[in-house]
Amino acid sequence: MQRRQFIRLACGGTVAAAGAAAVTGCSFAEVPSTAVAAWQDPSGEKDLRRWVLSYALLAPNPHNLQPWLADLGREGEITLRLDPQRLLPATDPFGRQILMGAGAFLELLAMAAAERGHRAEWELFPDGEPGLRLDAKPFARVRLLGDAGVARDPLFAQVLVRRTDRRAYDAGRRVTTAEADTLRAAVGKLPVRFGLASDETRVAPIRAIAREAWRIELTTPAPMMESMRLLRIGSREIDQHRDGISITSPFLVVMERVGLFDRSQFPAPDSQATQGQLKDFDAITASTPAYLWLVTEGNRRTQQVDAGRAYVRVNLAGTAAGLAMHPNEQALQEYPEVARPYQAIHALLDAPSPRYTVQMLARVGHLPAGIAAAAPAPRRGLAAQLST
Ligand SMILES: Cc1cc2nc3c(=O)[nH]c(=O)nc-3n(C[C@H](O)[C@H](O)[C@H](O)COP(=O)(O)O)c2cc1C
Repeated sequence: MQRRQFIRLACGGTVAAAGAAAVTGCSFAEVPSTAVAAWQDPSGEKDLRRWVLSYALLAPNPHNLQPWLADLGREGEITLRLDPQRLLPATDPFGRQILMGAGAFLELLAMAAAERGHRAEWELFPDGEPGLRLDAKPFARVRLLGDAGVARDPLFAQVLVRRTDRRAYDAGRRVTTAEADTLRAAVGKLPVRFGLASDETRVAPIRAIAREAWRIELTTPAPMMESMRLLRIGSREIDQHRDGISITSPFLVVMERVGLFDRSQFPAPDSQATQGQLKDFDAITASTPAYLWLVTEGNRRTQQVDAGRAYVRVNLAGTAAGLAMHPNEQALQEYPEVARPYQAIHALLDAPSPRYTVQMLARVGHLPAGIAAAAPAPRRGLAAQLST
């Protein structure tokens, strides 16, 4: 009873649990401005190392865990490690995607340094590469060297406006060859192969694999529960954590508050929650006019970092070209249940496993006319990511 009253008050008297789905603008179901404050230009930051880190932490990264920890203890250096509490053992058992996020982080750091006339030089895994699982040793040791000749990167202008956009795209608007060439060019000299399919005969089988892999993720307890634990439902939780998967649907927030959405239980495959998510994914998948992918020959740790660097560059180039992007990594994951779609996508994209690894598969397209770019995803902020 008390809970129902709270919900009514927070929505200005318009919401009761049963009618919440129709309500928008509830203060309890928004991303609070404090959770996205990191997207403001950090112009007040005087220290160069802190300034470049303020941009780096805006990198795309799996499940928005932002596992990067920066140690500024050594003069003139930034030592970067991964927080072992912020990994994804079920969906990313070998930390491949986490290292892609680390690569994206380094790429943004280098772009920011160039803006201030510095070259970022780094040594990857200075104390040794991780084995099968990631470890707490540094993934990079970075030095910023003053260099009047360093070229500024035009993609830097997109860093504060880059987004992951999981909504429907304009199904009738193709990604043109010129747009695809722009995305391809963004990879530059990185040793990563870029591919893009925008004709229906190639897109249709990719859609089918993406759907199948999504179904497997939702109906397999370990990966599904990993995501459930990272749900941040409603403004309060979003602001408290500033990571994970933000849920701002008033309906779901209300369901959770009245005890009708239990995150500690694996939802049955035929439950309304799972079936609803499958239906939503089918709809956005059907709206997808093109997919892009990034492939490495081999799957070494340094190649995973390179793939992340390449992805953020492609994402930034897409932003500049007015293209929305949404990674669909489900078919690329390495837990046993998803082995069939994993093999299928590698074969389809002319990247047979194990010689090649498809590191990224992403939806790409234009938003429907009149739809504004997605809101930024929360960030924990620099203070939370400094280890000294
Ligand atoms: C390696 C990698 C894998 C990702 N996989 C997915 C995915 O499968 N599904 C998804 O919705 N987003 C995926 N993302 C996007 C992240 O969820 C997103 O970057 C993060 O939530 C932060 O949001 P932002 O990119 O808008 O800053 C992935 C990002 C990276 C770098």
